[in-house]
Amino acid sequence: MSQNIVVRLDGTSKTFERSHEVITAVNKASISISAGEMVGIVGPSASGKTTLLNLMGLLETPTSGYVFFGEQNASKLSSPDRRKLRLAKVGFVFQQLKLIPTLSVRENVELPLALSFKSHDYQKKKAQDLISSVGLAGKENARPSKLSVGEQQRVAVARALVNDPILVLADEPTSQLDSENGKKVIELLGELRKKSNSAIVISTHDPVISKNLERVYRMRDGNLSSSE
Ligand SMILES: Nc1ncnc2c1ncn2[C@@H]1O[C@H](COP(=O)(O)OP(=O)(O)OP(=O)(O)O)[C@@H](O)[C@H]1O
Ligand SMILES: [Mg+2]
Repeated sequence: MSQNIVVRLDGTSKTFERSHEVITAVNKASISISAGEMVGIVGPSASGKTTLLNLMGLLETPTSGYVFFGEQNASKLSSPDRRKLRLAKVGFVFQQLKLIPTLSVRENVELPLALSFKSHDYQKKKAQDLISSVGLAGKENARPSKLSVGEQQRVAVARALVNDPILVLADEPTSQLDSENGKKVIELLGELRKKSNSAIVISTHDPVISKNLERVYRMRDGNLSSSE
């Protein structure tokens, strides 16, 4: 059973120091995410959702406790190895999107492929298929500034999926979308999960979205708990 676990946090904490104050963003979190699961993290602002996702995706290192990525203890990896693992296996939809303004839609989506070993033809097709499936066919050459915020959010989703990640971390991926487009993004993530058996973790404020996820955790003041 354990071979299906994509990421596991075990008593994992992250603190930040800010002008003589120590902030516990994540407090001894324990959670396992398996392949094919779609898990929600719900909680108010500043409860630690982004920090939790960043720990899972190897963008942050824990202050204490462990992050296991598959069978590997991420703390035992050198930072270049951790980075390599992250770039190859994790797709992020960042809360702040982080699209590159000087690149076109297509170039933004293709960005993670620079480190891929897959064939050029496969990469081009994959990027185009994703652009179409997020409803942006015809806008491949547009710069992000020419798109609506909702469209930009869909570019960020396509970019997160282009590298066939085993773990997709979507940080409030629908916060800027109306409920119809929000639903579409979640459906798209759901389709990906069926096709590729990826694990997906979605942080959200939106109760409608969390209602449609099988497993939902709550975050409050850095404390993670199962919502049942
Ligand atoms: N790099 C950092 N340096 C200092 N404090 C930080 C840093 N990142 C997060 N924090 C603090 O940690 C706490 C949790 O922040 P986090 O961004 O994880 O919350 P969040 O649940 O994602 O909030 P939101 O819903 O507003 O996105 C907050 O008090 C925040 O100010
Ligand atoms: Mg956040």
